[in-house]
Amino acid sequence: MPAPQLLVLFGSQTGTAQDVSERLGREARRRRLGCRVRALDSYPVVNLIHEPLVIFVCATTGQGDPPDNMKNFWRFIFRKNLPSTALCQMDFAVLGLGDSSYAKFNFVAKKLHRRLLQLGGSALLPACLGDDQHELGPDAAVDPWLRALWGKVLGLCPPPPGLADIPPGVPLPSKFSLLFLHEVPSAGSEGQQVAHTGSREPPSESQPFLAPMISNQRVTGPSHFQDVRLIEFDISGSAISFTAGDVVLIRPSNSAAHVQQFCQALGLDPDQLFTLHPREPDVLPPARLPQPCSVRHLVSQYLDIASVPRRSFFELLACLSLHELEREKLLEFSSAQGQEELFEYCNRPRRTIVEVLCDFPHTAAAIPPDYLLDLIPAIRPRAFSIASSMLAHPSRLQILVAVVQFQTRLKEPRRGLCSSWLASLDPGQGPVRVPLWVRPGSLAFPEMPDVPVIMVGPGTGVAPFRAAIQERVAQDRTRNVLFFGCRRRDQDFYWEAEWQELEKRGCLTLVPAFSREQEQKVYVQHRLRERGPLVWELLDRQGAHFYLAGNAKSMPADVSEALVSIFQEEGGLCGSDAAAYLARLQRTRRFQTETWA
Ligand code: 2AM
Repeated sequence: MPAPQLLVLFGSQTGTAQDVSERLGREARRRRLGCRVRALDSYPVVNLIHEPLVIFVCATTGQGDPPDNMKNFWRFIFRKNLPSTALCQMDFAVLGLGDSSYAKFNFVAKKLHRRLLQLGGSALLPACLGDDQHELGPDAAVDPWLRALWGKVLGLCPPPPGLADIPPGVPLPSKFSLLFLHEVPSAGSEGQQVAHTGSREPPSESQPFLAPMISNQRVTGPSHFQDVRLIEFDISGSAISFTAGDVVLIRPSNSAAHVQQFCQALGLDPDQLFTLHPREPDVLPPARLPQPCSVRHLVSQYLDIASVPRRSFFELLACLSLHELEREKLLEFSSAQGQEELFEYCNRPRRTIVEVLCDFPHTAAAIPPDYLLDLIPAIRPRAFSIASSMLAHPSRLQILVAVVQFQTRLKEPRRGLCSSWLASLDPGQGPVRVPLWVRPGSLAFPEMPDVPVIMVGPGTGVAPFRAAIQERVAQDRTRNVLFFGCRRRDQDFYWEAEWQELEKRGCLTLVPAFSREQEQKVYVQHRLRERGPLVWELLDRQGAHFYLAGNAKSMPADVSEALVSIFQEEGGLCGSDAAAYLARLQRTRRFQTETWA
């Protein structure tokens, strides 16, 4: 391989931006160009001043925020003191991934594109704005943009003479080779999860804490449509510390049934041990895989076999297939023309990698194990708002988990990997440990003791506010107003008794909204309007901070709309002044949100 010329940097939340970046990397390798692909926050950002050619691939999350793995980069690149010539040696292109049903569509990509120009960079192309809402997904915009990009890139750095492209039907070399051990090493020589059970250093993604689960309790009534769990972990001795608004990351495992199905389809022995060897010098084996590692460990803890496969999966599988009929179908799924059919087969019914492999049995049985890590993405950690405070429960960490389950046209119900895995763990049956670590969330509560807070948290959105209320009450901060929404008092009213107790002590004003106890829906935004005078008084006269958490889609916009109408009715502001008032609250961080899909 020639010296790396092209750098692809991604900010990815759900894995799509990473997938597109890896596709760019593969397309570069087919064209015999050196290419590095890195998460933005794992690249030393000051080195950007030496990079001649960089492609940025950035998702926009929630309300226009950058993904977690580019947050440090984002802060750095907007520093006021960067010279306007800082990146004058750089040609760049920005590929954005977003969702046009959100107000700030591709906000991150657009803003980054402008900022790179300000810093002296030269844009090869206008930013690409991939859209999840497009019926063919982001590829509808990404495919033509990439074709144009390659035209520009190859003009700037022509591939080495005399070397032909590697054609699409031929697999690229795998990233790793797997060396199976034929002698069984002595007992216990397979490294355990790379994790610690106690140390001074706070746990992190590469070294999570294996937290004992203390309890796992269903908190919704028997007739409620959803199984919601209150789960408690023991974090003593872990050096974990958190405050209200922080988030815990949990890495789930695949179910034993899926692991077995997968190993059977590929003809792998789960007990077989192997070591992993990178084929290229700048590739490292994943830090969280032990060496040697068992096939069972790899499949249950690392490979995301219960995820819906992406197009790149079909591309590589087609290259590896030796079965004519199956190969033909796989080629169709990986072609531009086959995307609608692929969507119907895979994305709409949420078919998983294990299920697809069972549909292509001849191909699955012949997959060379070396390609497993190229073919299947790694399991991503999932973030949960922490629902308890260390001031109230030292050495404990609680979360509220809605178990995701829904039906598609496939017989088996679809299950969220992490929530179903957590729900399946029963500490009553023996010790259970869960790999986790903590990071700051997007909510920060006021430091000044006398600032009141208004919190709006329907459903599991109430979790971070439970932490905040516990923390504030422990500090004698009693001016707390909580708007909580659920369907019915007797089915999904989390922590009812606790709230009542706090109300009795004068530490909380609770305003519940039960959506299904009467004919008309009553939501938190309706209750907010009813309490307009209180909300206005607290915000305008007493400098309250306002927080909103929960399921995204229309709820945040509905709540903002209710606030704007309160500012009009109670504050006598005209429509545009009321909207500006809300914008000012946001700018000064007196209005904060944490939403999830
Ligand atoms: P529903 O399920 O009866 O529609 C927690 O999920 C609560 O949030 C439920 O009572 C749910 O009501 C409600 N909810 C659903 N959509 C909402 C929206 N757009 N704004 C506020 N609350 C909503």
